[in-house]
Amino acid sequence: MQKITAAITAVGGYVPEYKLTNKILETMVDTTDEWILTRTGISERRILNTPGLGASDMAVPAIQEILTKKQLEPTDIDVIICATVTPDMVFPATANVIADKLGATNAWGFDLAAACSGFLYALNVGASLIETNRYKRVLVVGVDKMSSIIDYTDRATCIIFGDGAGAVLLEPNHDGLGIQDSILKSNGEGRHYLHMKAGGSVKPASIDTVTAKEHFVYQDGKTVFKYAVAGMADVSYELLQRNNLTGDDIQWLVPHQANMRIITATAERMGLPMEKVMLNIEKYGNTTAATLPLCLWDWEQKLNKGDKLVLAAFGGGFTWGATLLHWGY
Ligand code: UT7
Repeated sequence: MQKITAAITAVGGYVPEYKLTNKILETMVDTTDEWILTRTGISERRILNTPGLGASDMAVPAIQEILTKKQLEPTDIDVIICATVTPDMVFPATANVIADKLGATNAWGFDLAAACSGFLYALNVGASLIETNRYKRVLVVGVDKMSSIIDYTDRATCIIFGDGAGAVLLEPNHDGLGIQDSILKSNGEGRHYLHMKAGGSVKPASIDTVTAKEHFVYQDGKTVFKYAVAGMADVSYELLQRNNLTGDDIQWLVPHQANMRIITATAERMGLPMEKVMLNIEKYGNTTAATLPLCLWDWEQKLNKGDKLVLAAFGGGFTWGATLLHWGY
């Protein structure tokens, strides 16, 4: 029997309307538009500022766009994998909430927490499910409401992150399109440099943890930057090498949008000109698990069947990796 591969057959996305610009941040913390733009490449980010809304409320419209494009009913979906570090609540999984809000009553699903590599990890898990031939339609959504865990008095973190959701549909392909190869890595030592100090089982929420602002993102930016530059560039280069490819063979690099300088270093290492790199960091900032699918969403019209894409990410954990895929439509 011919090998079944898992191809992306549709993309959807959602970003909230409110734009938190660098100019507005200048009025909130000691920073400048010029510093943020030159050090990160970010001009503005979207914020879900309607009280009572969470990650699922961004994931649902992203998925509904896919259902509309593909003329599918919610009941046609087999599995929902939700990559997030800002779930609606600690439990149940946001995937369950999404399924309920969609009416995807035939789907099972779960959340996957791998921070900025969440979508990449989830895409690979979803592809494996398709390759077993037991599931025909797997939705992979990357969503984060980073504004819910950001301290807007901390200039080291509040300038970077934004909110958003991106989703893809994975379906079986018999022509060899879709996910081809991946290198996925993690190193738990990295937890010391990027984490949230309280709210887990080690340090449950208390008045003291709230007072100490321990429910916000802590990042040692310089150290994370060092690991991210090396990590993302190394795996992307290794992936090309072991598939006997060079930058010339790749149509698009789809990099995690954390910092323009990390993206540039990865593209250079792969021998790719910046015209072949998907970039939306300037308008969305770092949306954690949503950056990769939001790039695909923005670029969907420019993609052609058979295009070779490398998706690459680095994030908290540390987690990182790269995936080679052939575009499915
Ligand atoms: O997505 C998951 C993984 N995360 C990442 O990949 C993020 C990796 N890290 C980064 O992108 C960068 O480290 C940051 C954007 C977070 C920071 O940029 P940096 O170039 O590493 O800045 P820095 O922390 O080394 O600080 C340089 C200077 C310092 O001043 P002094 O000590 O040189 O006088 C900071 O106090 O810039 C200052 N600074 C700022 N100035 C204006 C730090 N943040 C700001 C700010 N506005 N927002």
